[in-house]
Amino acid sequence: MTTVLILYASSLGNTKRMADAVAEGARSVEHTMVRLQTVDQTAIDDVWACDALVLGSPVRQGAADARLRHFLENDCERLMLSGRLANKVGAVFTVGAHPHGRYGDGAEIAQLGMLRALAAGGMTIVSGPCEWRNATMRGPYWGPHACLRIGEDGREVLQDGSIEAGQLHGYRVAQVARSFKHQPIARPRRIVAWPRMAELFSGVRAHLRSVR
Ligand SMILES: Cc1cc2nc3c(=O)[nH]c(=O)nc-3n(C[C@H](O)[C@H](O)[C@H](O)COP(=O)(O)O)c2cc1C
Repeated sequence: MTTVLILYASSLGNTKRMADAVAEGARSVEHTMVRLQTVDQTAIDDVWACDALVLGSPVRQGAADARLRHFLENDCERLMLSGRLANKVGAVFTVGAHPHGRYGDGAEIAQLGMLRALAAGGMTIVSGPCEWRNATMRGPYWGPHACLRIGEDGREVLQDGSIEAGQLHGYRVAQVARSFKHQPIARPRRIVAWPRMAELFSGVRAHLRSVR
């Protein structure tokens, strides 16, 4: 069984709707168990135990929500420093106001801020698939981003295509996590260097010899 842990923060419910969509997509992959939690409910053991970690954040003041940033700096760093995030799969998604609305976007900054922390832990990142770039919903390269619009009842709704993009993201994450589960990434016994590249950096050859 592959475990996909989806952690999100949501005050108005929109990021939760995207998180539900990501969860639905992940669940559609066979032998996948999905855990969907708010980031402040999460126990560090759940993160340690998962095969894939997906973070969903509202965009706040042009960056990721402080609840996600707190989790990354306080909880994930401990796992990162002890090497326990490496070999896991990581991905992100965001929700924000309409880019031409009152707020100043920042989806890419929010996504990259979270991804940078996951990459620092050695995780394998699943980016955004191309399919949604032609759809109504557009996201940065890094993951889906749902903009809001005002619905007929005057309430905020996710723009068309967002749910589908979230589902597709969840599906891809679960697929990648599943294939890694069966063929875990191992450190190669021999690092094969491109010789001229190695020559450019003094000490690289010696280093390579030492790790063989
Ligand atoms: C204080 C505040 C700052 C915000 N800043 C941004 C922003 O910089 N860019 C953006 O696209 N949306 C911004 N938003 C809009 C939120 O991202 C949007 O309302 C989102 O739906 C909130 O997620 P939630 O519904 O899951 O709580 C901001 C909202 C608030 C309340």
